[in-house]
Amino acid sequence: MQKTQSREGFGSRIGAVLALAGSAVGLGNIWKFPYEAGTNGGAAFLFIYIGFIILLGLPVMLAEFIIGRRSQSNTFGAFKKLAPRTGWKNFGYLSILAATLILAFYSTVAGWTLEYVIEAIKNSFHGKSSTELSEHYNAFIEHPVKPVIYQIVFMCMTGLIILAGVKKGIEKYTKLMMPLLFVLIVAMCIRSTTLEGASKGIKFLFTPDFSVITGKTILSALGQAFFSLSVGMGTVLTYASYIGKKENLTNISFQVILADTLIAILAGIAIFPAVFAFGIAPDSGPGLVFLTLPNVFQHMPGGYFWGITFFILLSVAALTSSISLLEVIVAYLTEEKKMKRKTATIITTTGITALGILCTLSYGPLKDFTIWGKTTFENFDFISSKILLPLGGILISIFVGWKMLKKYVYDELSNDGKYKLPIFDTFIFIIRFIAPLCILAIFVNELT
Ligand code: TRP
Repeated sequence: MQKTQSREGFGSRIGAVLALAGSAVGLGNIWKFPYEAGTNGGAAFLFIYIGFIILLGLPVMLAEFIIGRRSQSNTFGAFKKLAPRTGWKNFGYLSILAATLILAFYSTVAGWTLEYVIEAIKNSFHGKSSTELSEHYNAFIEHPVKPVIYQIVFMCMTGLIILAGVKKGIEKYTKLMMPLLFVLIVAMCIRSTTLEGASKGIKFLFTPDFSVITGKTILSALGQAFFSLSVGMGTVLTYASYIGKKENLTNISFQVILADTLIAILAGIAIFPAVFAFGIAPDSGPGLVFLTLPNVFQHMPGGYFWGITFFILLSVAALTSSISLLEVIVAYLTEEKKMKRKTATIITTTGITALGILCTLSYGPLKDFTIWGKTTFENFDFISSKILLPLGGILISIFVGWKMLKKYVYDELSNDGKYKLPIFDTFIFIIRFIAPLCILAIFVNELT
C-alpha cells in the first residue's frame, strides 16, 4: 500500500463504484442529455454520443484512473509526482477552472430542481396545462431572488457533505439513492411510452437522420459524453486517488459507464414520448425536463408521490455530482496549500456560489448581459463542456500515452500483472493516437 496515513480512502469496492457512478449520474443525464439531444436532432445525436462514450470516454476515463491511483494525489500533486519538474502540474489549473465553471452553472439547475421538490410537495402542478406549466417555469427562473436562494441552499448542502470527508460524506449518500432513482425512471418510462402519441418521441430518439449532423452537433455530443461521465478535468482522477490498490480499474470503469449511459437513455425514453404527446417543442432548451415531467406525473396514478420522489432523487443525484466537483478543488487546497479542510471548503463554496448567482440571474435580471452573444450561464457551460473538457481529454491521453512509462500503465490496469489485459495494445493505440487526434479534429472543425 502506497497510501500515506493521513489520506482517507473509500471504504469498500462497492463504495468506490457508487461514488464514481454518483459523480457521473446527475443533471447531465436527466437534464442536459435530453435537451442537448432535443436541440441537436434526436437520434443522430444519441448515436454519436454513444460512439464517443465507447471510443473516447472509456479510454480517457481509464487514463484518469491510472494517473489518480498511481499517484494517490490531487490534480496538481499527481503530475508533480509522476512527471516531476515539468509543466504538467499546470493541468491542475485547468481542472480547478473547469470545476469552478461547471459547479457555478450546475448549482443553478440544481436550485431549480430543489424548487421543483417544494412545488411538487405543494401540489402546484396539479391540473395545469402544458402552457401553464411553462409559464410557471419561466416565472420562477426569471425571478430575481427565489432561484438564488435555492442555489445557495444547494451549495451549502454540497459544502456540508464535503466537510464530512470522503468516506462518511461521499460514499454514504450514493448507496441508497442510485438504485432508487433507477426504479423510478423505469416507471416513468413505462408511463411516458404508453401515452397517446408517444411513438413520435420514440422515433425521434431512436431513428437517426444523419443529414442533420453538423460540426456543432458533433462537438456537442463529445462535450456531452465527457460531461456525463465526469471525465476530462480530473474528477475521476481525484476519486481514483481514493481507490484501493486491489480494485480492478477496468471493471469499475465499465460499471460506471454502463450505469451512466443507461440512465441517460432511460431519461430520454421517459421524456421524449411525453414531449410529443403534450405538444412541447423538443428543442425547448434547458427547460425541457422541467416543462415535460410535471405533465407526466399528472397522468400517473399516484403522480403526486412520484413527482415528489423524483425531484428529491434528482436533487440527490445532483448533489453526488456537485460534491465530486467541489472535492477536486478542496483536495488541491488541503494537500498542496496545506489548508484546513474546513477553511478550504468554506472559501470554495462561497466563491463558487457567488459566481453561480451570476449564472442564475442570467435567466432574470442579467438576461441581456451577454459576452460573445451568450449569457454568463451559457458561456460557463460552453467554455467548460466544449473547450476545457475536450482539451483536458487531449492532455490526459497524451500524458498516459506518451509521458508515463508503459510499464506503470500496464501495472495499474492489471494490478501488477494479476489481471489479463487482452486489449492493452488497443488501449495504448487509442490513447496515443485516436483519442488526441480525434478530439483535436472535432475541436478545430467546430471552433475555426
Ligand atoms: N457528470 C455529472 C453529471 O452528469 C456532472 C459532473 C460531475 C461533471 N463531475 C464532473 C462533469 C466533472 C464534468 C466534469 O451530472
